[in-house]
Amino acid sequence: MWRVTLKGRGDFEAWQQPARAFLQAGTLPRDIDWVEEDGAAGDLFAGAPTLDLPQPSLQQTALTVPRTFVLLAEAVICHSDPSRFDLLYRLLWRLQMERTLLSIPSDADVARAFGLEKSVRRDSHKMKAFVRFKEIEGAAGQGERRRFLAWFEPDHHIVARTAPFFQRRFTDMDWIIATPKGSSAWDGKTLTLSTESAENPMLDDATDALWRTYFSNIFNPARLKVKAMQAEMPKKYWKNLPEAGLIPGLIAGAEASVAAMAARAASQPPLFHERLQTAAANAPSEVSTAVPGTLDAVREQARSCTRCPLHCRATQTVFGEGPETADVMFVGEQPGDQEDLAGRPFVGPAGKVFDAMLDEVGLDRGAAYVTNAVKHFKYEPRGKRRIHQKPNVGEVQHCKWWLKLELDLVRPKLVVALGATALSALTDSRQRFSDLRGTALPFGPDQTLLVTVHPSYLLRIPDEARKRAETAHFRDDLCHAATLLTRLPQTTTRSVGSRFIDS
Ligand code: URA
Repeated sequence: MWRVTLKGRGDFEAWQQPARAFLQAGTLPRDIDWVEEDGAAGDLFAGAPTLDLPQPSLQQTALTVPRTFVLLAEAVICHSDPSRFDLLYRLLWRLQMERTLLSIPSDADVARAFGLEKSVRRDSHKMKAFVRFKEIEGAAGQGERRRFLAWFEPDHHIVARTAPFFQRRFTDMDWIIATPKGSSAWDGKTLTLSTESAENPMLDDATDALWRTYFSNIFNPARLKVKAMQAEMPKKYWKNLPEAGLIPGLIAGAEASVAAMAARAASQPPLFHERLQTAAANAPSEVSTAVPGTLDAVREQARSCTRCPLHCRATQTVFGEGPETADVMFVGEQPGDQEDLAGRPFVGPAGKVFDAMLDEVGLDRGAAYVTNAVKHFKYEPRGKRRIHQKPNVGEVQHCKWWLKLELDLVRPKLVVALGATALSALTDSRQRFSDLRGTALPFGPDQTLLVTVHPSYLLRIPDEARKRAETAHFRDDLCHAATLLTRLPQTTTRSVGSRFIDS
């Protein structure tokens, strides 16, 4: 029987050296008694020979082990379980015969080793989360680096393996992290590690108040889950966390805070909620099919449109705008988030692209009629954001009622469909969008239809070169529209299918 006394404390090499020598000498695991210095080893083997290291002849022979074992052993050695040295040697021994041993999770030694590795990893994670630095007042002179000290109580010997994280994260200040299981220090150049036990410096500083303010601000009583919170922030860490003193009070007051939040929310609804309520209150009980004779009257009627469910969640109807005598009508898809709030078409990001392009080709937006195939914003709420959703065939179909009235009353010479949804609302053509794009097509009596892309398409192209090319193409289409406007009415050569008015 051999006895090896190790300091432990996460020192992988201190175990690796004798382990390698024993393995090469063919020493069975049961013939070694691994003892941790300061550990509570029994004295059963008092008098057993100690290994006389180094033994050069033995150490020179190469031994191979899977890389996974080395990584596992480097973590397990940091655990404070005194049986870890023995466990690792047994694994090392068995690996010589069973090369795939580590891939058998049901094996008791393997399971135990991975269990120890997991607690070391968790301890290291907690150290990263719960170390609280306190500034050492007056320690730094003018122009010198500020100095900080932290006290932490890890379960295992993780100081050395966790120190590089702090070195990277807090590189511009000098710090010491002291623990009962060793310390680490950084001075901007050197990371110094010690395995000696330190004492709690019992510091208090102004950052404690900051931590408390931060914690009480991020604490959301409505999301409180006490068990999950205690699993994330186990009680054993509380004594060194300045903010922990707040936790019992915050938990006790959570119910009352939620009730107070709910009461506040009920009396102060968001602006668009108020508008929804008003629209709902003014909505007619029946869908009106009476056809008003002027664009203003149509616009007024559309304000309380309930033809499809989209009105339920949109802030308001976004009707077309522009002169009733406009020669050109631009038809987009549906209002976006900003249009929904402003109540006007094409005022958001896509509208900015559209306006800039009209300017470039010399078309006056004020002289054009600008509208959408669908008059309500369709979206999906995601957190605080409302994410645009494409209207479906039924929604487009319901909204044609309004588009048809706009076309009949404005009677533009040229209609420009911006994108595939507008095209499908304007015609019953089954032809592909890409086949029709850029061509002047006959559309109703004395009218021409020009099909181009939607300006938001340009905003979604990630590749810069392609974006430039597509923007130039869009500009060409609008130039074409400007030229057509100077020539219309005229005969066109290709049919796009019947305009929906007639279908
Ligand atoms: N996209 C559209 O199709 N219409 C708008 O009004 C805004 C964005």
